[in-house]
Amino acid sequence: MKRAVYPGSFDPVTYGHLDVIRRSAALVDELIVGVLQNNHKNPLFSLQERVKILHEVTKDMSNVRIESFTGLSIDFVRTCGAQFLVRGLRAITDFDYELQMAQTNRIMAKEIDTIFLTTSLEYAYLSSSTVKEVAYYGGDISKFVPPEVAQAISRKIHPQTGISEA
Ligand code: PNS
Repeated sequence: MKRAVYPGSFDPVTYGHLDVIRRSAALVDELIVGVLQNNHKNPLFSLQERVKILHEVTKDMSNVRIESFTGLSIDFVRTCGAQFLVRGLRAITDFDYELQMAQTNRIMAKEIDTIFLTTSLEYAYLSSSTVKEVAYYGGDISKFVPPEVAQAISRKIHPQTGISEA
């Protein structure tokens, strides 16, 4: 059984993440999306919310499972019994950090390989932070995230006005 884990913060999931999820799920028997409970960051969405949103937007993908984890990604990959860790590479600016992470993870677990998927061009400059900033200033985020995510962001950022980006 070929299994991969795609770890990340997913605060919230974007079309760029979904592109990586869909394409990596096609390469393996099972893809586990690992949502990090990151105590160092101050996320817009709670861990439970991020997991719930991911469940909703991946419900048509039968071999994709959503799980949360704490600690090191590589330990989570090992616990899942997966052989691969998936990461998306958007632009050259991602490269240093991702390479450092992949090399360190490889030293910690030489049986696990990191697979990099280059993000589709239309999502090359997309990030959760950019989406949140655009939404914060009332911009249209419908090209960046699925409608259910846009609504969830809207409810968080503009709870009184109920401005909807979808
Ligand atoms: O979506 P992100 O925020 O780019 O994902 C980064 C993530 C969660 C993959 C990375 O920060 C991570 O793996 N954090 C867990 C701790 C860890 O394993 N650090 C890397 C040590 S080499």
